[in-house]
Amino acid sequence: MMTSIFQGRSLLKEIDFTKEELNYLIDFSAHLKDLKKKGVPHRYLEGKNIALLFEKSSTRTRSAFTVASIDLGAHPEYLGKDDIQLGKKESVEDTAKVLGSMFDGIEFRGFKQENVELLAEHSGVPVWNGLTDEWHPTQMIADFLTLKENFGKLEGLTLAYTGDGRNNVANSLLITGAILGVNINIVSPESLFPDEKLVDQAMKYAEKTGSKILITDDVKKGVEGADALYADVWVSMGEEDKYEERINLLTPYQINMDMMKATGKDETILLHCLPAFHDTETIQAKMVEEKFGIGEMEVTDEVFRSKHARQFDQAENRMHSIKAIMAATLGNLFIPKA
Ligand code: CP
Ligand code: NVA
Repeated sequence: MMTSIFQGRSLLKEIDFTKEELNYLIDFSAHLKDLKKKGVPHRYLEGKNIALLFEKSSTRTRSAFTVASIDLGAHPEYLGKDDIQLGKKESVEDTAKVLGSMFDGIEFRGFKQENVELLAEHSGVPVWNGLTDEWHPTQMIADFLTLKENFGKLEGLTLAYTGDGRNNVANSLLITGAILGVNINIVSPESLFPDEKLVDQAMKYAEKTGSKILITDDVKKGVEGADALYADVWVSMGEEDKYEERINLLTPYQINMDMMKATGKDETILLHCLPAFHDTETIQAKMVEEKFGIGEMEVTDEVFRSKHARQFDQAENRMHSIKAIMAATLGNLFIPKA
């Protein structure tokens, strides 16, 4: 019997998947989004049980996995860091064996990439990386879907990411763009440039796909001609002691209207994985305002609320794309090899 090329696989990082496979997941997400809008049921995971492990906080990823599981007919179970023994009294390996014997699939959000890999190795069920310090692969399917929805294609587009060039989202954008033939500019101060090995890896993909990779600290050069400007927080989860350092380093890399204009394109879109520091409506943003005297960080409120903004479409797309990833790897779908 012909089995799907996805069945039983984990999504731990983007390089585990080919260009065709990533494109399939993007297009399948669009299809499932259409089914959802039309009210057509798509219960590919009827009767399955999904574990949702979270060491770090989440709004989008948790909600997306929960709603997607239920839409697919599965039961999601949230297992937060304070609810289970993981790390405190039980190793990742032992936890993986237990969860794998009860659940059909496992989502993991946490610190170490090694842990999500260990879960996949020892659980015997598909494991989906909901963000680690190194990668954010489920985010990528939503991001590139959002790009495709806006421009009708991916190849040849230019995405400029500005800010902390060595965090999980920057790593994932660099590699995924290179695999998919999207030009990626990482625009950040030199001290926050991506790891050289990662850049080399991206360059190798880019040679095959025609993607152009630019790593630069020059904002003008980095954003010129960009179809999308992409921001992430300046301080990622787990680095909360770095506000001062990052504000000093990254203020020139804030996405504001001047930067938007510097793309030279009226139709450039704003992407942001969210949450965003664009106002002072949160505890952390108020703390930053009090201590450092600024009310906006990686993106101004003006751009965030402008005609360029697509970050909430992107957030919605997290649900459709996570649904596609779960259905493709666990739903016994007929997906012939491309
Ligand atoms: N973009 C993203 O992963 O959001 P959450 O942290 O809310 O899941
Ligand atoms: N780089 C951010 C992404 C949040 C979705 C973080 O790790 O906190």
